[in-house]
Amino acid sequence: DKAIQIALLGFGTVGTGVVKVLESNADDIMKKVGAAIVLKKILVQSANKARKVATGAKIVTDIESIVNDQDIQIVVEVMGGEKPAKDYILQALRAGKHVVTANKDVVAKHGKELFEAAEASHVDFLFEASVGGGIPIIRPLKQCLAANRISEIMGIVNGTTNYMLTKMTKEHMDFATVLAEAQAKGYAEADPTADVGGFDAARKIAILASIAFGARVTLDDVYVEGITNIAIQDIEYARELGYVVKLLAIGKQDDQGINVRVHPALLPNSHPLAAVNDVFNAIFVKGDAVGETMFYGRGAGELPTASAVTADIIDVARDIRHGVSSRILCTCFEKKAICPVGT
Ligand code: NDP
Ligand code: HSE
Repeated sequence: DKAIQIALLGFGTVGTGVVKVLESNADDIMKKVGAAIVLKKILVQSANKARKVATGAKIVTDIESIVNDQDIQIVVEVMGGEKPAKDYILQALRAGKHVVTANKDVVAKHGKELFEAAEASHVDFLFEASVGGGIPIIRPLKQCLAANRISEIMGIVNGTTNYMLTKMTKEHMDFATVLAEAQAKGYAEADPTADVGGFDAARKIAILASIAFGARVTLDDVYVEGITNIAIQDIEYARELGYVVKLLAIGKQDDQGINVRVHPALLPNSHPLAAVNDVFNAIFVKGDAVGETMFYGRGAGELPTASAVTADIIDVARDIRHGVSSRILCTCFEKKAICPVGT
C-alpha cells in the first residue's frame, strides 16, 4: 500500500530514538501497519549540528515546510518546551495532520485546546510518551481500565530524580554530580529544574489524574515539592531507620473531590516502590472493578521513550489505513472539586 509519510519536530534524544526504531524495526512495522512509514522531514533548531544517526529525511528549520506539505500525514513533536511546540502542534492539527507528542508541558497545560483542535480537524492526537517514558500508561488508562472508577493513581514518574536518588543512596554521589550524569544520559529535561523541582512529575500526575478521574486537573491544582532540599545526610539517616527516599506523585479521588500532589516520601524498604531504582518508573492504579494494577519500566531515555512514541505513530498509521480514529473525546476536561493537601 501507499507509504505513510511523517515528519519529526526535534532530533535530540527522543527524535534520535524514533529514527533508530523506525529504521531497525521497519519490516515489522510495515507488516503491522500494512504500509511503510517514511520519515520525510525533520525540523531542528541548528541545521548544521552533527547528528547521532544517519537519515534520508530532509532537515528543515521552518515549520511551514512541514505543515504545508500535503504528503505529510503525521507530525511527531519531540522538541519539548511550551513555545513554540504548542503553536507548531496547533498549526499541524489545523492543517489536518495527525499529531503524536512526548511533550507533557503542552499536554498538561494546553491539553483541552489541543484535543479540541484535533476533534475539529477529525485527526488523532496521541501522547503516550508524555508520562512514564516507555511504560504503557496513557492508553491503559484511556482504554483498558476505562470501565473502572479510579480512586487512586500513584507512583514514581520522573526518571531523572529516581536515578539521582538511587545513586545518592547506593553510591553516596552528591546531588550536582549525579544530576550531571542524568543529563548526560539524556534523561533530564532541557531545564533540569523541571525534574529536580518536581514540576515534570507534577505535569505528569496532572495528565494522569485528568484521564483517570475524568476531570480537568492542571498544574495549579498540584502541590509540588521536589528533591532540591534532599541531602545525602537525609538519605543516610533514612537508611539507618530502614527507609528509602523516593519522589512520589499521588492523585486520589473520593466523594470530597480530587487531591493531587508531588513530594519526596520515606518508604519502608519492604514497600514495592522502594525497589524501583535508577531510571525506572512505577505507577499504581486502583480501580473499583480491577483492584490494584502496577505499571513498571524505564521512565526516560532514548529507546524506551522512542518505543512509546513509535507505538503512537503505528496506531495513527493504522487509523489512517483503515479510515478510523482512536481519539478520545474531551470528556476528561470538566472541572471537579480539588481538595487541598492534608484534607
Ligand atoms: P532534546 O533537548 O534532546 O532535543 C530537542 C530537539 O528539538 C533538538 O533536536 C532541537 O534542535 C529541537 N528543537 C528545540 N527547540 C526547537 C525549535 N524552537 N525549533 C526547532 N527545533 C527545536 O530533547 P529530548 O529529546 O530529551 O525531549 C524531547 C521531548 O520529549 C520533551 O518534551 C521531553 O519532555 C519529552 N520526553 C523526553 C524523554 C527523555 O528521556 N529525554 C522521555 C519522555 C519524554 P537541535 O538539535 O538543532 O538543537
Ligand atoms: N525528564 C523526564 C524524566 C523525561 O526524567 O522522567 C521523561 O519524561
